[in-house]
Amino acid sequence: MEPIPDDPALRPDGAGADDPVPLYLRRTYSWAYLDRRTLGWLDRPSVVSAILWGNAHRLMQAAVAAFRPGSRVLQAACVYGGFSAMLARRVGSEGRLEVVDVAPLQVANARRKLAGLPQASVRRADLAGGCPGWRAYDGVCCFFLLHEVPATTRSRIVGHLLDAVAPGGRVVFVDYHRPHARHPLRWPMAAVFRWLEPYAESLLDTDIATLSAQSAAFSWQKRTLFGGLYQIVIGDRRDTEAAA
Ligand SMILES: C[S@@+](CC[C@H](N)C(=O)[O-])C[C@H]1O[C@@H](n2cnc3c(N)ncnc32)[C@H](O)[C@@H]1O
Repeated sequence: MEPIPDDPALRPDGAGADDPVPLYLRRTYSWAYLDRRTLGWLDRPSVVSAILWGNAHRLMQAAVAAFRPGSRVLQAACVYGGFSAMLARRVGSEGRLEVVDVAPLQVANARRKLAGLPQASVRRADLAGGCPGWRAYDGVCCFFLLHEVPATTRSRIVGHLLDAVAPGGRVVFVDYHRPHARHPLRWPMAAVFRWLEPYAESLLDTDIATLSAQSAAFSWQKRTLFGGLYQIVIGDRRDTEAAA
């Protein structure tokens, strides 16, 4: 596989790109998403699986299965491992997958991973900055992004993602959730969140479906997995929106 070129635009501050990488990302997640020295180590299915306590494959499968072959899907932010390729294969050659991420290094890495899948493309944009395509997508998939952004940014991103869903289309959020009181990982995960993921705590008890005024146009279903540590939230935009 082609290595990522050594391009000045891939610097950790995102300088060289049109708008800078957000401050919260630079301050909190430089080591994870903006540093090419850790990227090769983190971007492995085995590491992603370990981080999600062996649940990565079933969470990814559940998200991917929510979208129909032949549909146009927006993936909100890059994900380590093979998730985007799974999604691209799911929509197939008759569909489209567009991945949007704010970090130039992640965009370059995702392009490299999706090189053999012509139905997939990757572009750089801040999902908090505006709607990536007004009612343009049959599906929008947001996999473990919301716990990594501050609460106000989270609401903006959810609003923009809902705006991007076409009438009759679907949005899928997969993320952390408050585990059951006696879950053996409750306190270890609380420590991990305090140490590495400072915005996660504010998501755990939040009903994602309430984060945007747009939510009323959707019907929602939510399920939790692995003792409540993970949630899958699906919103279906009502067809009647077509008349609006
Ligand atoms: C999807 S999340 C977490 C994924 C998961 N931890 C994994 O295994 O990869 C990580 C991505 O979100 C991106 N990101 C964070 N804030 C963003 C924003 N406002 N707009 C677009 N992408 C964003 C980061 O650049 C990073 O590539």
